[in-house]
Amino acid sequence: MAVAADVWHDQAAGTWLLQTHSTGYAFGLADAGAALRHLHWGPGLRAEVPAALLAVAGGEPPRWDRSRSGARELPDEYVPWGGLRFDEPSLKAEYADGTRSTEWRYVAQRLARQAATVTLELDFADTAYGLTTTLAYRVYDGFDVIERWAVLRNGGGHPVAIRQAHSANWWLPDRARWRLRYLHGGWGAETRLAEATLGPGKLVLESRRGTTSHQFNPWFTLDPGGQATEDNGEVWSGALAWSGSWKLVYELTSAGHLHACGGLNDFDWMVRLLPGDKIVLPSFPALYTDGGFGAASREWHAWARAHVIGRGDRTGVAGPRWRASAALRSPSPEASSGGRPEDGSTPGAGQPGPGPRLRPVLYNSWEATSFAVTQDGQERLAERAARIGVERFVVDDGWFRGRDNDHAGLGDWTVDDTKFPYGLGPLVKRVNGLGMSFGLWVEPEMVNPDSDLYRAHPDWVYHFAHRTRTEHRNQLVLNLARPDVAEWVFGQIDRLLTENNIEFIKWDMNRPFSEPGWPAEAGRNPERIWVDHVRSLYSILDGLRAAHPGVEFESCSGGGGRADLGILGRAEQIWTSDNTDAWDRILIQEGFTQVFPPQVMMAWVTDSPNWWTERRASLRFRFHVAMAGALGIGGDLSRWTEREMAEAAELIATYKLIRPVIQHGRLYRLASVTTDPYGACQYLTDDGTQVVILAWWGPSSSGGGRPALRLAALDPGARYTDADSGQEYWGAELLHEGLPLPGAIRGDFVSALVRLVRRAS
Ligand code: GLA
Repeated sequence: MAVAADVWHDQAAGTWLLQTHSTGYAFGLADAGAALRHLHWGPGLRAEVPAALLAVAGGEPPRWDRSRSGARELPDEYVPWGGLRFDEPSLKAEYADGTRSTEWRYVAQRLARQAATVTLELDFADTAYGLTTTLAYRVYDGFDVIERWAVLRNGGGHPVAIRQAHSANWWLPDRARWRLRYLHGGWGAETRLAEATLGPGKLVLESRRGTTSHQFNPWFTLDPGGQATEDNGEVWSGALAWSGSWKLVYELTSAGHLHACGGLNDFDWMVRLLPGDKIVLPSFPALYTDGGFGAASREWHAWARAHVIGRGDRTGVAGPRWRASAALRSPSPEASSGGRPEDGSTPGAGQPGPGPRLRPVLYNSWEATSFAVTQDGQERLAERAARIGVERFVVDDGWFRGRDNDHAGLGDWTVDDTKFPYGLGPLVKRVNGLGMSFGLWVEPEMVNPDSDLYRAHPDWVYHFAHRTRTEHRNQLVLNLARPDVAEWVFGQIDRLLTENNIEFIKWDMNRPFSEPGWPAEAGRNPERIWVDHVRSLYSILDGLRAAHPGVEFESCSGGGGRADLGILGRAEQIWTSDNTDAWDRILIQEGFTQVFPPQVMMAWVTDSPNWWTERRASLRFRFHVAMAGALGIGGDLSRWTEREMAEAAELIATYKLIRPVIQHGRLYRLASVTTDPYGACQYLTDDGTQVVILAWWGPSSSGGGRPALRLAALDPGARYTDADSGQEYWGAELLHEGLPLPGAIRGDFVSALVRLVRRAS
């Protein structure tokens, strides 16, 4: 049963205890309210324990202050830079008179219980200037995730420059030899698991690219002694909910204490808060479990499903929301005015509701046609897609004016009438007539210099005066920090969604930022673009989703370059990687699902040999890998033989049967291709009655025999029936002896799919 989350406040002692489903987190006021000292993060605590912990910690025991450097390495929940602090600070502010350190006092708390959540906010006011910092904590009924963020408000009469502002500072308990696991990669090789043993000093992982990045993802696990396994051991895990440049610092201080902190990347960033301004820093949720890496992932998955995916703005980090103007909502395609910003956060955002819907089986034309999309060609593909059971048909890049290759067209979001003489209407109608919903690719934050948009507005892109405008994939980045540009972007996509029955948008972003300048704002804080771009993007997406509630979104950035919990508030799914080679995908998917649930992991079955790796694999193998997430088809169906079409139809029908288990079930990673002779995942419904196992073998090696696969989390005393063969097993047998895998496991790239159903008695 889901345990209600709660916050216990001991007023006399000045402590707070956050109580999650099965863990506890505590802190308390110290130094007469000048500091908020961290006390505990781990197993649940009795309500009176934090006060006792503070009595020790508040007295600055030698354990926390044994450095001879004079530094005060005290575990403060949020560290304003100043005094003898030399570890990574949380906040660095500069006041109008040149003062560059902050001293503050606790002033107030607010506690709010809403459906399924409790939010605690603590205000700290600067002792001399008008800056107030609010530390926010949110706990969720039935979950162990603790969400943290901070809000900075300038209530004084002069500007305050914020040069570093973290979302959270997470202290870990004192243990020996921490292991850090994180995700790294590149284009076509996203979300690869890496690990490092932390020694004294700092390990900094970051993106300076303006987007989440392929290179590093803002997720981590930390386990003491490197002892946790998939099934056992203490694990602390965090994941920043932000889709722009970020920085996470893992610092083992010279006195031996570990903290993981970060948020917005401070590199090249500064925000000047004018009197009355505030900035909401991105949410930085984290969790503790003693159930190993698998339990940490399952907690992330379940929490994301219940509280993140498509929920919009939970903390207020987005800017004003863009909404359609009356003129734009009219059917006239000539309407030129864009959206208007609406103040305040999205009403109803973050509130619980029905869980995310099952992902439809999708077809995408990109690998089949590249830019050569035409009405006839797409209709032919759509007919074949419908025949094998596809439910959503998506036209990728190439449909708009001037877009015959990647040198031109971005920015001119009107249909190319040489490819679609009567607009998108007839194709959408045909796709709908075939029983499928229609989806469209867009890349609205970008412009090709060879476009009417750029010719009309060369100043709409990020650039520095007298410097090269560095192109990447022949494109430049639009300055979404400019309200007129944000309004224009909103208007373009709103128009497309208003004029056509589009039910799905693949929102791409194919290059990082360079020359992040805004010359017209020189002297007025152009460095804020790093944050304002993302806030604007969130606002546009929130506005589009509010104006078109039936439309679903996919986050794409040259593959999986924008995969994070911030964008997931505005997207039902994520394009995992442009690398669709099934064998490579197993590794990418293993990393991706460390934090993101399988239902958002878009995975296509494409042609063999693969266009990128030239590896050959059977249709069945390619399907079995893609079925581990949200299934899509991305091959050139016009070239699939009748046999392949029939096999695909059968596999898609099977996927539809297992889809609720895969997409809404619990994921157990049974074996990894990195350490075992094969990879295998088990999916289990919450009620434990349905089980799906997917297993994949790579290049064969002789003498391996036929391995049995030990399953997880079953009821040892229950009987399970193989839904295909009728074979029956005891749960105990499957847990301890393992599932004998069907058929001969011979040859390269072979796979198995097993469905088990628990017998009623
Ligand atoms: C990016 C995406 C691809 C495809 C192309 C189109 O690379 O990741 O899936 O949409 O852009 O140009």
